[in-house]
Amino acid sequence: LDNSYIYFDHASTSHPKPPCLWLAIKNYLETIGASPGRSSHRLSKLAHNQIIQTKNLLARLFHLPKGDNIYFSSNATTGINLILKGFLKQYDHVITTNLEHNSVLRPLEKLKITRSVSYDIVFSDSEGRFQLSEFEKKITSQTKLFVINHGSNVIGVTTPIKEIAEICKKYRIKLLVDTAQTAGLIDINLTHMDEIDFLAFTGHKSLLGPSGIGGFYVKDPFCIDTLYEGGTGTNSHTLIHPETPPFKFEAGTLNYLGIAGLGATVNWLLEQNFLNFFEHEMNITEYCMQKLQEIEEVILYGPRTIESKLPLLSFNLKGFYAGEVSYFLDEQFQICTRPGLQCAPLVHKTLGTFPHGTVRLSFGHTNTFEEIDYFIQAIKKILSLKK
Ligand SMILES: Cc1ncc(COP(=O)(O)O)c(C=O)c1O
Repeated sequence: LDNSYIYFDHASTSHPKPPCLWLAIKNYLETIGASPGRSSHRLSKLAHNQIIQTKNLLARLFHLPKGDNIYFSSNATTGINLILKGFLKQYDHVITTNLEHNSVLRPLEKLKITRSVSYDIVFSDSEGRFQLSEFEKKITSQTKLFVINHGSNVIGVTTPIKEIAEICKKYRIKLLVDTAQTAGLIDINLTHMDEIDFLAFTGHKSLLGPSGIGGFYVKDPFCIDTLYEGGTGTNSHTLIHPETPPFKFEAGTLNYLGIAGLGATVNWLLEQNFLNFFEHEMNITEYCMQKLQEIEEVILYGPRTIESKLPLLSFNLKGFYAGEVSYFLDEQFQICTRPGLQCAPLVHKTLGTFPHGTVRLSFGHTNTFEEIDYFIQAIKKILSLKK
C-alpha cells in the first residue's frame, strides 16, 4: 500500500479533500480577501458574489430553483440549534428518533429545561427500521415538529424520509431533516420533498469542504426567530435586527474562506456526478461487510444488506472493547477508525452496545478494495493477539 495510513473515518470528516478546495481558499485570500455587504467597493462585491455562487451551487445539489432559502452557519450543529431554538415555543412537543446525534438530542434536552418543551422518541429495531405507525401514535395536540436523521452515523441506515414527510403533511407538523451524513452522498430533492420545512447540512463530510462551514435550509424564514443578532451591514440605523433573509440568520462576519472552499467542492461534486462516488463506496462497503461476516468473532451491527444504507459499518470483536480494536488498528496497522458512541448514545442502547460502543468504519471515494483486504488481515492479526 502506498499511503502511510488508511483513512476509514469519513463519517467524522472527509479526508483527503479534493485539490479544488485549497485552490479556492488560496484564490479567495489572494484575489478577494474582503467582507461582503459591509462596503461597496469592488472586492466586497466579489465576496458577495462568492456567497451567492456557493448558495446557488447548494441549491442545485438540493434541486432548488435558487439558493435564497439557504443560510450559512458553522456546521450542522449550529444550524440545528438555530432551527430548534428559533422555532420551538413553550410547551411545544417534538417527535424524534433513537438514531439522532447529540446535536439534536442535547438542544432538545436543553429546551426541556428552559422552555418546558417535551419530546418523544420513536425507536427503530436494531437494523434501523421503523414502524411508521409509531410516529403517528406519538402525535399530540402540542406536536409542532418532527426531527429526523436522514442517515445514521452509527449504523449507516437511511430513514424513509418521504414516508415520514407524508405523516407530517397529513397532521400539519413541521419537519426538520438532519442531512449531516447524507448531503453530497445521496440525492436529496427538496423540490420533490416539499414537505421538508427545515434541513441542516455540514460542509466538511461528504460535501468535501473545510471544517467550520455548514448551513441550513428554511422553507419559510418568517416562521423562526433569530438565535443571534448583530451586524449585517444593512439597516444599521436601527437597533432592531433585520427580519429580512438572509440577514436575519447571518449576523456577523461569516466564514468566507469556508464558503469559497465549499462552493468549489460542491461544484466539483456536481461535475463529477457524486452519485458515482456513492456507487463505488457502496461496493466497497458490501465487500467489507461480506469479509467481516466470514470472521466468526466479528459482530456486525445495523442493516444486513446495503439497501437503504450509507458507506459505513459498525462492528465489535468478541472479547475486545471497541476502543482497544481502534487503538490496535491505528497503532499497529495505520488504519484510522472511530470507536465509541459516535455522539449518538440512544442507537447504541438499541444495539446493546452502550456504553462502550462500536468500531466504526466509514468510507470515501478514495478508498480501495485493496485497503479493505489489508484491513481484514489486520483484524485477523488483532484476533490472534488474544488466542
Ligand atoms: C447525524 C449527524 N448529525 C449531526 C452531526 C453534526 O455535524 P457537525 O459536527 O458538523 O455539526 C453529525 C456529525 O458527526 C452527524 O453524524
